[in-house]
Amino acid sequence: MKPRPQSMDDPGFRKLTIRQRRAVLAEDQGLDFSQGDLNATQARDEILDLADVMVETAIGIMPVPLGIARGFLIDGRQISIPMATEEPSVIAAASFAAAQIARYGGFTTWGHKPIMTGQVYVVFPPDDHRNKETLAEELNRHEPELAKILQPILEPMTRRGGGYRGMIAAWLPESETLRLHVHLDVRDAMGANLINTCMEALKPRIAAITRGEILMAILTNRADQRLAGARFVLPLHALSRGDFHGMPLAQRILRAWRVADTDPARAVTHNKGIMNGISALALATANDTRGIEAAAHAWAARDGHYRSLSSYRIDHENLVGEIELPLPLATVGGGVGFHPAAQAALKILGNPDAQGLARFAAALGLAQNFAAISALTGEGIQAGHMRLHAGRLAFAVGARGPEIPELQRRIAREGVFNRATAQAILGEMRSESPSASGQPSTSGQTPKSDSAKQSQEDG
Ligand code: MEV
Repeated sequence: MKPRPQSMDDPGFRKLTIRQRRAVLAEDQGLDFSQGDLNATQARDEILDLADVMVETAIGIMPVPLGIARGFLIDGRQISIPMATEEPSVIAAASFAAAQIARYGGFTTWGHKPIMTGQVYVVFPPDDHRNKETLAEELNRHEPELAKILQPILEPMTRRGGGYRGMIAAWLPESETLRLHVHLDVRDAMGANLINTCMEALKPRIAAITRGEILMAILTNRADQRLAGARFVLPLHALSRGDFHGMPLAQRILRAWRVADTDPARAVTHNKGIMNGISALALATANDTRGIEAAAHAWAARDGHYRSLSSYRIDHENLVGEIELPLPLATVGGGVGFHPAAQAALKILGNPDAQGLARFAAALGLAQNFAAISALTGEGIQAGHMRLHAGRLAFAVGARGPEIPELQRRIAREGVFNRATAQAILGEMRSESPSASGQPSTSGQTPKSDSAKQSQEDG
């Protein structure tokens, strides 16, 4: 495999100030940060109106940083992925893995049709002794009639190429309920509103056919037909760094994956790392993060054992990483449709359809996972994490503007990550002349007396 140019790494973007990065995006992608696309990322009065129409009893907003993971090569296209997250190292890790993978062909992705499922549950009085399995079959025979009830509701979706895709009733002996599943292709929507409307429309007729009582009607977030996946192939030599060599590191990555695939206690953290990426993209695009997470974790436990969402293998001197999971992300409807920051995020991605967005999410989740397990099985994650944590400490002790990166650098060099040290170094910086900023620190005098180098405030 031919390495791609180093420029895919784009280390320069990371080193720009936040204002310079915004200028680059405005230039590259026509984003208007002053009035329009990214209004919602700024503290402006209109944001209160936006909040007020999004939820009840709104009192303000809770700003979460929006960043860009650059350097992804996905199905031959260079992509920058917007991510909203409060966790310091998530975007850095995704960008790092993306750049490494991009040099050797990038990600190949795939997506299944956006089929979601609605459910209607029916219950019966204890003295109803009819055979309920036969009743389920009878309900199945009414499919054409039930589908016809949905036709007018589904008409716009059907015109867009989606719509009704089938139904199946089953008797669930454990809960003693009759369940009807209705499958709908929801195209670029998440589908919750449409499905819930459809299920409620079916209630009276289902009650009449079964002579039962409707317990509830709602979509299922399981989304196990709406899968998307991604794969990368990296030559083993490309994994080598410092004291870590390709083959042994690949074997350790494989072992780490096997641990996650068999030990649920590790799988939870392994999959949480994957969702660090996917949920950040979901939030940046105002998608339903909880629905997506619920679907992912249910998928991880689909054979009754909670397992890794990703997999790894060594194939002809290459490490192959792969992921496939339900990714019910929308590009229209709900918050996605009107939140200005979500609209800007979609624009950064080149305005994909829902399946395209799901495929980006799969690649991002896999990048996040690869970054985490290659760091964990190599040098560990704390060094990089603490470097980023230093930025938060700098802000917390009062550094502002250009003081922040300078203090961050000095804290990291000092290697002591607590407020007292950060405060002391900031004091030193301020006592130096402003032009001295960036000069070697005199913080050799700063007490290194803390028992641990890691601050308790880190959490
Ligand atoms: C931290 O948010 C995510 C990781 O714990 C994931 C993992 O352990 O695989 C680093």
